[in-house]
Amino acid sequence: MGKTATERTVERLVTAHRQREGAGFVVRRPFPTYGFEMANPFLLLDEMGPADYGPGEAVGAPDHPHRGFETVTYLLEGEFEHEDSAGHRGALGPGDVQWMTAGDGVVHSEMPSARLRAEGGRLHGFQIWVNLPARAKRMPPRYQEVPASRIPAASTEDGRVQVRVIAGEALGTRAVIETVIPIIYQDWKLSPGSEVVQPVAAELAAYVYVYQGSVQVSADGRKVSAGQLAVLGPGTEVRLAGAAESKEPGRLLLLAGKPLDEPVARYGPFVMNTEQEISEAIDDYRRGRLGVISRASASH
Ligand code: FE2
Repeated sequence: MGKTATERTVERLVTAHRQREGAGFVVRRPFPTYGFEMANPFLLLDEMGPADYGPGEAVGAPDHPHRGFETVTYLLEGEFEHEDSAGHRGALGPGDVQWMTAGDGVVHSEMPSARLRAEGGRLHGFQIWVNLPARAKRMPPRYQEVPASRIPAASTEDGRVQVRVIAGEALGTRAVIETVIPIIYQDWKLSPGSEVVQPVAAELAAYVYVYQGSVQVSADGRKVSAGQLAVLGPGTEVRLAGAAESKEPGRLLLLAGKPLDEPVARYGPFVMNTEQEISEAIDDYRRGRLGVISRASASH
């Protein structure tokens, strides 16, 4: 017989702060923040928008480097464009995911699409940073670009609970994205009064970030509202319920991953294990060893 399932409860609530990022776009950021530097193995969670931009207003993150971790971009609304030092470029639309393993290093730009910058429009999405273990910090960069049509979705029989499975498995549906360490990344939508129990293996640290409405986590009904991150305690499953009194569905990201038991040396876009490796990364970047973006039409 299997072991008895144990439900995870909320150990801590962290309220996201607002922060300017890149060239000045506003994000809601539960971490890193003062007193909560990371949600091991996740290094950062940014909710971009939702924001309505006028013509000429939308800005992004022009050329910048990364080394030693992964950046995962998931859009709900709007359009993003990216290009990088390996000559890779593409666009992201609603529901699309880009899972970029920076590994040894890339220089890239992440901007709202030219059309959105020119004409204005609505932008809403997420970027998370996933740490890499020492053995993979300098692996060759890898991209997994998955259009919305290929992100597995599932729902309960009554259709009141829906999930997009970016990483891990939910409601019998397995993600198509491969992760370096075990990761769960799921976008859940819960109708008011609906409920679901999702297994989350005991060895994973688990977090719930609510971005719309409110949600009850665990049988004790701890309420988590939009803009709050719940740090969950130990257990083998998490119970999620849409707040019964709510008018709108509760929407949340369920994040879980195997914590890395390694030192973290962090400096802006570089996340390594030692200060020496950080100095090396800065030096490599300055010498152009992380590459530069070549633009045929650019004038730099
Ligand atoms: Fe980036």
